[in-house]
Amino acid sequence: MGKPKVVLGVSGGIAAYKACELLRRLTESGHDVRVAPTESALHFVGAATWSALSGHPVSTEVWDGVHEVPHVRIGQEADLVVVAPATADMLAKAAHGLADDLLTNTLLTARCPVVFAPAMHTEMWEHPATQENVATLRRRGALVIDPAVGRLTGVDTGKGRLPDPVEIFEICRRVLARGVTQPDLVGRHVVVSAGGTREPLDPVRFLGNRSSGKQGYALARTAAARGARVTLIEANTGLPDPAGVDIVRVGTAVQLREAVLKAAPDADVVVMAAAVADFRPENYATGKIKKKDGQDPEPIVLVRNPDILAEISSDRSRPGRLIVGFAAETDDVLANGRAKLRRKGCDLLVVNEVGERKTFGSEENEAVVLGADGSETPVPYGPKEALAETVWDLVASRLG
Ligand code: CTP
Repeated sequence: MGKPKVVLGVSGGIAAYKACELLRRLTESGHDVRVAPTESALHFVGAATWSALSGHPVSTEVWDGVHEVPHVRIGQEADLVVVAPATADMLAKAAHGLADDLLTNTLLTARCPVVFAPAMHTEMWEHPATQENVATLRRRGALVIDPAVGRLTGVDTGKGRLPDPVEIFEICRRVLARGVTQPDLVGRHVVVSAGGTREPLDPVRFLGNRSSGKQGYALARTAAARGARVTLIEANTGLPDPAGVDIVRVGTAVQLREAVLKAAPDADVVVMAAAVADFRPENYATGKIKKKDGQDPEPIVLVRNPDILAEISSDRSRPGRLIVGFAAETDDVLANGRAKLRRKGCDLLVVNEVGERKTFGSEENEAVVLGADGSETPVPYGPKEALAETVWDLVASRLG
């Protein structure tokens, strides 16, 4: 089998330079990439760059090499088309089926998954014309990644930034690996919590845990690659922002609870992958706690934190909403997992065994997903991403 064929469409925005990094990632990971820039994209990055990095000739229009019928062939042969950056104009053309250059022709002939990574000024992104075009493209099965919030061209900041090319690459990799043309979580809002809460004792110290947040991030990335609108509530991870995901940053269990309760009302799924501290210090010292010569340290008195998973599971006001919990266990993993599933009242519980060298901070995981319906789905030792895909498979089949 040859290398997977990817078409990288580049339209005319300043973020075109970031597509060079995406192209590099794609070629270095074994993809055969044809770049199809628009005429205006070449104002930002020239054909020589695209050609050198892809190892293929580059053209913007359909009149080069006509005997090979490129306007049809490139799209037909592609395993994935990704347009990054996609300007407002490109989204409009794609939504209306215009075909006046090589890229727009390719979009009409491609039958493979198509990913758009829009980048533009906030006003252009928010304009009803653009939003309707995005909705049209999504309805037809394209994956349109929401732009990131941050610095735009010039001094502006807002929503409209092209996500980090490394993260766009991650989406492309997952879409190619799934091998299905239509994303299956389109129109769904999923809320994922990730990381570990920190309960402060004073301005410099806290009680924390070993959770890295990688499993929660893998869940957020895979859900975005499957078309969901994703709210990622992250506690103290320091991990790079996944593409197309809204991020809410929290520190403590109480803040995490607030963020989950705020995002949950219109969520179809809530996944509690965060390691939430069960207790917090009763008192917070506003100044650094000092040792006193000749005196024993003051004991730390702890109070219970709210159980967010149990609280959200007991609220069944939104019919059909699925709640997924995680259980980290060191002994009697399955029996404890079953008991926890009942106690918490969630729909699915991902149970994994943890220990000093197991799971925390690693790229791999092994788990069993228990269902409130009695189902038991073992997930063999493998990348956290594979476990994430299984969780979404189980969720998707239950959402109907
Ligand atoms: N959880 C939560 N709120 C808490 C504690 C845990 O929402 N205060 C959630 C976690 O996000 C996870 C699940 O509950 O999805 C189970 O977490 P775990 O630490 O394994 O369970 P605990 O309830 O803390 O039970 P125990 O420590 O007794 O095993």
